[in-house]
Amino acid sequence: MALVTISLDQLVDGKPATPEHARNWCARLESGDILFFPQSPIPFTADDLAFLRGQQQTDSSLHKNIAYKPNIDKLSGLDAKSANPADVERLHAIMRGYSQHVVSFLTGFLAPYRAQWRLDYASFRPLEEQNRDLPLRRRNDLLHTDAFPTRPTHGARILRFFNNVHPTRTRDWVVSDPFAQTVRQFAPAQIAPHPGTTTTRAGKSLARALGLGKAIPSIKRTPYDDFMMRFHNFLKENEQYQSHTARYPWQFPAGSSWMVYTDTVPHAVLAGQYAIEQTFLVEPQALVQPETSPLRILERLAGAPLI
Ligand code: SIN
Ligand code: FE
Repeated sequence: MALVTISLDQLVDGKPATPEHARNWCARLESGDILFFPQSPIPFTADDLAFLRGQQQTDSSLHKNIAYKPNIDKLSGLDAKSANPADVERLHAIMRGYSQHVVSFLTGFLAPYRAQWRLDYASFRPLEEQNRDLPLRRRNDLLHTDAFPTRPTHGARILRFFNNVHPTRTRDWVVSDPFAQTVRQFAPAQIAPHPGTTTTRAGKSLARALGLGKAIPSIKRTPYDDFMMRFHNFLKENEQYQSHTARYPWQFPAGSSWMVYTDTVPHAVLAGQYAIEQTFLVEPQALVQPETSPLRILERLAGAPLI
């Protein structure tokens, strides 16, 4: 588990200098490292930053953050009662531009993936993370690996690209040992992957209602998705894990970017305000070292296919 620092002058026109660099960065990500850009490769205008820093969400239990769904170009999670339409339009334009810039940067930077990802949501996180009052399973100050209750990935990996857009403060994370180790140490028999069991089916209308359109034809959880969801909950609920596992703190400075496979690197955010993020679901066939993927690790443990 390491933080790999990348400065923009290592890039040529925003792209890796050689194909080997790009392959190596994919491999580092897949094995659980965080790629860190002290200076973000994503441009923001001073006006847009000032606007983002002026946003405050009032009801934190309803609005954990504001989501942008790039596939249907929709914004959600806004406080409808108090939002002013001009502000909504402005935020929408900023999120759209952010999402497009991140996609365009990673299409070059992670060239070996050849954009074989499903573009998931982007989010804007305007709330102070310290001392947030959230239900346990939604708390992000507890170490966890990511899994989305409404968006099973069917084996695709969750890659997230973050920007700290606070003017001065760091965004304070803690990470822990990677998935393979954590799963062997902490996954007890009752949450072990069950190859035979299935799954929640909710059909195409739910997929549409969730804004996933045709990207996922039906909401069907594979045994893999079931395990990943239960593992997320299990880690947050497990006091033994929370208090005894290794903790490596990282403070991401104002103006920086970082990216990480959050389905395999246990992480927690302890403090910070104003982050913006784009999530990608990277298809298993795109990975440069698929044997390190959580799908393969779990299939080896289960001795059976899980998708
Ligand atoms: C998380 O994915 O758990 C939250 C990360 C963050 O908002 O910094
Ligand atoms: Fe998370």
